[in-house]
Amino acid sequence: MDTKLTMDKIVNLCKSRGFVFPGSDIYGGFANTWDFGPVGVELKNNIKKAWWKRFVQESPNSYGVDAAILMNPTVWDASGHTKSFADPKMDCKVCKQRFRADNLIEDYSKGTVVPDQMTNEEMQAYIAEHKVKCPKCGSYDWTPIRQFKLMFETSRGTVEGEKDVVYLRPETAQGEYVNFLNVQRTARAKVPFGIAQIGKSFRNEITPGNFLFRTIEFEQMEHQLFCKPDQALAEYAEYKDKAWKFATDIGLKPEHLRFHDHDKLAHYARAACDIQYLFPIGWQELNGIHHRGDYDLSRHQEYSGKSLLYLDPITNEKYLPNVVEYSIGADRLTLALLCEAYDEEALEGGDTRVVLHLNPYIAPYKVAIMPLQKSLSEKAKEVYNNLAKYFMADYDEAGSIGKRYRRQDEIGTPYCVTIDFDTLEDNTVTIRDRDTMKQERIAISELKDYILDKIVF
Ligand code: GAP
Repeated sequence: MDTKLTMDKIVNLCKSRGFVFPGSDIYGGFANTWDFGPVGVELKNNIKKAWWKRFVQESPNSYGVDAAILMNPTVWDASGHTKSFADPKMDCKVCKQRFRADNLIEDYSKGTVVPDQMTNEEMQAYIAEHKVKCPKCGSYDWTPIRQFKLMFETSRGTVEGEKDVVYLRPETAQGEYVNFLNVQRTARAKVPFGIAQIGKSFRNEITPGNFLFRTIEFEQMEHQLFCKPDQALAEYAEYKDKAWKFATDIGLKPEHLRFHDHDKLAHYARAACDIQYLFPIGWQELNGIHHRGDYDLSRHQEYSGKSLLYLDPITNEKYLPNVVEYSIGADRLTLALLCEAYDEEALEGGDTRVVLHLNPYIAPYKVAIMPLQKSLSEKAKEVYNNLAKYFMADYDEAGSIGKRYRRQDEIGTPYCVTIDFDTLEDNTVTIRDRDTMKQERIAISELKDYILDKIVF
């Protein structure tokens, strides 16, 4: 990571190279929504693929689901979201900016006061006593604290006036809990086993921002491990390790990661922690790991009226398993990986190159094929067509070779292959490594395996 990295640099690179565009761009955008472009969608898909590979494909006791975004509204009563998924908000009467009261206190006290422990009345009293000013305009003229609901509501129904409220899910986890017994029975799964899901979640955040960090629509990758109650603490410790290992294996440096154990636990949690990443905006949550006890299954059992008890086939014991949850945002992880990979390197001759040192597995393109001259394009396209059967390859014949290398460096392509006149004679090509910029000559027949060997996760 470039030590002088700013979020603006990442945003600009993303816009100019086709990673991420502002949502509804031609209409002037739509605040805090983002569209992934041709290169960004490949990057995010590869990140999701890596997560799925680790937590489903290579975890023999884990199973995937893809549950509906719109769920029976009672699900959200059972989960506690309709009652308590809200943040304390205050509006500045002067500049009309909206803030979370807890964030105001945290920033004002420079982290010495933990507002999680305070009631709304206590937060309001603290803000009044210290005359905490609006961070935007410096005024001290606040509305009272009000609870701001974070779930997006929509309605279902065909007759005007007879519509039922439904919610866009604010987390994917509930789709895993309600399918606990469906998965257990059909997969003949034995506790401990996991259910994983990747999908969109929606939150009407009070303070979205910082590019992909906090948005109102985002993707989550969530894994719920269902285990025996007396095993849950050990599994929680194990999932802390697994989450850390995934983060470092995919490309985040350990020195930019740290655990943050929660002092105050949500009503359902027995233990909880985040892994934080050192974003350009400071240390922030990357993912969460929670020991949720039997809260979720017992609530769904109560609200649905259906037994969710698990029958242990060996002991014949019936019980509600505990849940250990590991949850990470795909967009937030994409942002962290872009920040980590970004570098500006001084080159001989005074030039600088921007390069993304992405793990080759997640790089949007694995290779770019470049004919030295347009007259070599037929041979180059033959090589491209062959490699594109196995992985994403790019084809570029525009501009000098140096410029083409720079373009690929900026989107993190690990290999560039140049087709020159010798290629026509001996069927060999030059392959250039993104990180070392070293070049070597290899036979076209070896190219596919050479690259496949390097893009393993
Ligand atoms: N099921 C548990 C759960 O949803 P969370 O801490 O609210 O827990 C888990 O969210 C992860 O989802 C976060 O660590 C973060 O990576 C991602 N996330 C949450 N809210 C987000 C938002 N508004 N924008 C982008 N990512 C978000």
